[in-house]
Amino acid sequence: MLDSRKDEASRSVIIRAHSPQTVSFNSLRAHGHINRAIFYQGVKNNLLVEFEHKDSVRHLLEQVSYFSDPGQMPVQSRLLYAVHSSNVYQQHSLPPAFIHTVGTKNFTQQQYQAADSISAQMKGLHKMRSLSDDGSRLRYFMCTLIEDMLRTTLPHCRVDPFGSSSNGFGWEGSDLDMMLTLMHKKQQNPQANFWFLTKRHAEDERTFAQQCLDVVGDMIRVLMPSSHRVSKILNARVPIVKFHHDITDIECDLSCVNVSGAKMSELMFLMGEMDSRVRLLMTTIKQWAKSCEVTRSHPGPWPSNFMLLSLLIFFLQTRSVPVIPSIRHLQALAEPEDHFQVDGVDYAFVTDVQKLTPSKNNQKPEELLLEFFHYYAHFDFEMNGLSLIEAATFPKPDSAAVFIENPLEVDHNISKNVSSSCADKLKDSMLQALRCLETKSVPNRDEPWGLMCLFQPPVEKDTELTWLDKTCEDNGWNHKTSPIIWRELIDRGGKGVLV
Ligand code: GTP
Ligand code: MG
Repeated sequence: MLDSRKDEASRSVIIRAHSPQTVSFNSLRAHGHINRAIFYQGVKNNLLVEFEHKDSVRHLLEQVSYFSDPGQMPVQSRLLYAVHSSNVYQQHSLPPAFIHTVGTKNFTQQQYQAADSISAQMKGLHKMRSLSDDGSRLRYFMCTLIEDMLRTTLPHCRVDPFGSSSNGFGWEGSDLDMMLTLMHKKQQNPQANFWFLTKRHAEDERTFAQQCLDVVGDMIRVLMPSSHRVSKILNARVPIVKFHHDITDIECDLSCVNVSGAKMSELMFLMGEMDSRVRLLMTTIKQWAKSCEVTRSHPGPWPSNFMLLSLLIFFLQTRSVPVIPSIRHLQALAEPEDHFQVDGVDYAFVTDVQKLTPSKNNQKPEELLLEFFHYYAHFDFEMNGLSLIEAATFPKPDSAAVFIENPLEVDHNISKNVSSSCADKLKDSMLQALRCLETKSVPNRDEPWGLMCLFQPPVEKDTELTWLDKTCEDNGWNHKTSPIIWRELIDRGGKGVLV
């Protein structure tokens, strides 16, 4: 999939254009057959044009002028402006049927209202929110743009998407996680290419990634048109270069030699392929977490979408009739070519979904959703860690608020960043979600029901909780042991009681 998507992307150009009608179809066609055109809005309007052959792109680029943003060098790139001096283009513009439009879509209130079950609402939401085929093309295009820039000095490098852009759980507005690989597997000396750039020897993979991204970050800032807010976060556990790409309007995170991250995406992709309910549930949970501010769009002490996905996988593995198997089971089915190493440790999981027997669990998506909220609203995060490898809990090894063992780096906790107050908020919000689904599950033409109630913005509670935290702290009370009871008190006007 990666290779065919990358091939399509390398046969494409992006043209900044006010509307599809301002781009001359005839003048594009003069360079070769066009497979498709996608119109979308970044910071400005743009058209992604995919040619049938790579030669057409080369031919087109020979005839255009280079442009640069202020502070950047004028470089050749597949990002172009349409210059239209006469209305002749309008007469030969792209046929409307030929143009696809990309953009974030919402499932409307009317559509929620008209659905005949919560499961139907979940399906509708998922269809509307998930990353479209055209949105996916834009992301692969972005990867090939960075490859274009680097391949003049690193001819064998690859930039591939991972995370939600390729694991099947992405949305139109998700960030784009990319992994840079500098050499083919075949190359004998894995760091040979990079010595050419740094002339230094890197002691381990992380140091190597830091040195590499230090240089690549500068190259993106200076040489990549339309890249803005480039920042190097090299001291993170996984070093990255972060930037915003204006023309595609995509927030990008570029890492280097991130085998664990990429393999994790492959594993999550497999989980999604195993049973169609996994993606439906994840879309609903992601939307719920966003609406009640359990997750935020930037990193912090709150759960990430990836952590929620891990919670969901664990939940589905541990049903009395499991929806998906443990990773241990996937390991047992792995072929020799499915083995790989992370930091010198061997891992493996089957990659062919056909080898897995479909689940005998036949619960409806809405039943599983309700059970998910019930399970975690009452889960003892204080005592238990979660292992997706064994599909079982284990005594929590440290004082982290939530411990989810990383299946591809077993001594690492996926949710290490989550503070105890954010973990409390997660459980508390799950309890509220549960109550909401229990009381508002019947279709109703006159009142909000089902997911419409679940996605209500958070009730104005934060100031009260801050006040509660402060009061408890001032008086030496420990409300953390039973946060739900405290919050129920607040719900029932407990503020007065407490005062
Ligand atoms: P959104 O960006 O919120 O749409 O979700 P995402 O799945 O892309 O999450 P994120 O951008 O935070 O991380 C990108 C990918 O990195 C994830 O999908 C995982 O494959 C991987 N990843 C994230 N955190 C960890 C971790 O703690 N360990 C490992 N091995 N991989 C991780
Ligand atoms: Mg991501």
